[in-house]
Amino acid sequence: MPGSRKVFIKTFGCQMNVYDSERMIEALSPYGYASVDSPEDADLVVLNTCHIREKAAEKVYSELGRIRDIKEQRLTEGKKTQVAVAGCVAQAEGAEITKRAPVVDLVVGPQSYHRLPDLLFRAKTESRRLVDTAFPDEDKFANLPARDAGIKSNASNDAISRSAVSNASVQAAAFLTIQEGCDKFCTFCVVPYTRGMEFSRPVNELVKEAESLVRRGVSEITLLGQNVNAYHGQGLDGRQASLAQLIEILAKVEGIKRLRYTTSHANDMSDDLIEAHRVQEKLMPYLHLPFQAGADRILAAMNRKHTAQKYRDVVKKIRSARPDIALSTDIIVGFPGETEGEFQETLDLVSEIGFAQAFSFKYSARPGTPAATIADQVPDEVKSDRLARVQALLAKQQKTFNAHCVGRTFPVLFERSGRHEGQIVGRSPYLQLVHTNGDPGHLGHIVPVEISSANSHSLTGVIRAA
Ligand code: SAH
Ligand code: SF4
Ligand code: F3S
Repeated sequence: MPGSRKVFIKTFGCQMNVYDSERMIEALSPYGYASVDSPEDADLVVLNTCHIREKAAEKVYSELGRIRDIKEQRLTEGKKTQVAVAGCVAQAEGAEITKRAPVVDLVVGPQSYHRLPDLLFRAKTESRRLVDTAFPDEDKFANLPARDAGIKSNASNDAISRSAVSNASVQAAAFLTIQEGCDKFCTFCVVPYTRGMEFSRPVNELVKEAESLVRRGVSEITLLGQNVNAYHGQGLDGRQASLAQLIEILAKVEGIKRLRYTTSHANDMSDDLIEAHRVQEKLMPYLHLPFQAGADRILAAMNRKHTAQKYRDVVKKIRSARPDIALSTDIIVGFPGETEGEFQETLDLVSEIGFAQAFSFKYSARPGTPAATIADQVPDEVKSDRLARVQALLAKQQKTFNAHCVGRTFPVLFERSGRHEGQIVGRSPYLQLVHTNGDPGHLGHIVPVEISSANSHSLTGVIRAA
């Protein structure tokens, strides 16, 4: 009985969670679940959570307070609600969550989503709280249903404004997780603990999934992984394939017009991948390459395993392969022991490289990570001050980058209708949001747009005849 049960999923954190939320909805669909937009209407509420910083993890508990009230209210109307916590908080805190928030019926880690229907059934029939945070032997991707169902999620994302699913009738852009986990163990980071060891999906599986996304109308795919450029999945010939080889294969899939990938590590920017930016026309001129800190002493304490000079060298190579590439990065300020002089090196590196956009964060001590126990923690006021300074510089760079686009004509892939009547919204090759007045018939298509004005976070333009 499709549609007889209703599920509400709220997504926090990175794009991989957005992708996982879609896969969870698809896994539940054969069991009669349809996605709804508000928890008040839902028989099942799933919070897909993020543990990367303290604030992200705490959001879950405030959200659970709200869900508890809704569950109680529904009960007075004779309706039962199941509540599940998925994602990285589920993996990191496990049974602690059910102790702190008894409203929760099920805690499910990112490696167990293929078991979700079974776990929900057991939680209900056995009337007890279940926790599944194992790293099972079976591969969850191989055990999730194939992606042909064409189901849409209501994935909303606090950290990243871009959801793979828009409110328009066409899904033009999609995420595709090709790699999960991380073996790098940066001393500040929870990901190796919440997502486990690095794992790459085989090429044939990814080609099939890309083809089914194309059948849904998708023409742009962003390949995802915590360490996406360390990808080394089984190739079509049985040997290991690199990200560059995977891109070459996916670029040949009929209907795919644009490819992107995120997030990369400077140490894994191999020559063949850099070369792909020169030769693969479908590979968009945009690269998210976090450097975290500009001082070598801090980089070493973070266990990033490269120097600031190495980062400069990688950027130089990429820019010589693709001179117009737009660079993005992640920066942490106030890592334990960071001095004012060392922070200045971060500012200097930002000034020297020049970013089209960036994410920057105050260091947040995460339980269980090595950096959390360093005695020399930086006071919060100092972190706030440094964050404000680096963000002012980054905002200036983003504004300059956008201002340089005025007068140019970009191919824009339109993804959704805008807030104003007659407005449509898409993305430039450099991932900027582009607003224009235009026929909704353009949604799902790449159309030339002449940029007429720019502001800090988006561009506005006029459609030009192709
Ligand atoms: N794999 C990516 C990062 C994934 S986490 C990489 O290696 O670059 C996304 C970003 O969150 C990181 O780049 C980092 O800037 C930030 N981050 C991770 N842990 C953090 C912490 N404990 N405090 C503050 N920011 C953190
Ligand atoms: Fe975290 Fe470092 Fe792995 Fe990125 S490379 S996910 S920052 S441990
Ligand atoms: Fe957050 Fe987990 Fe992604 S900690 S950033 S949701 S991998």
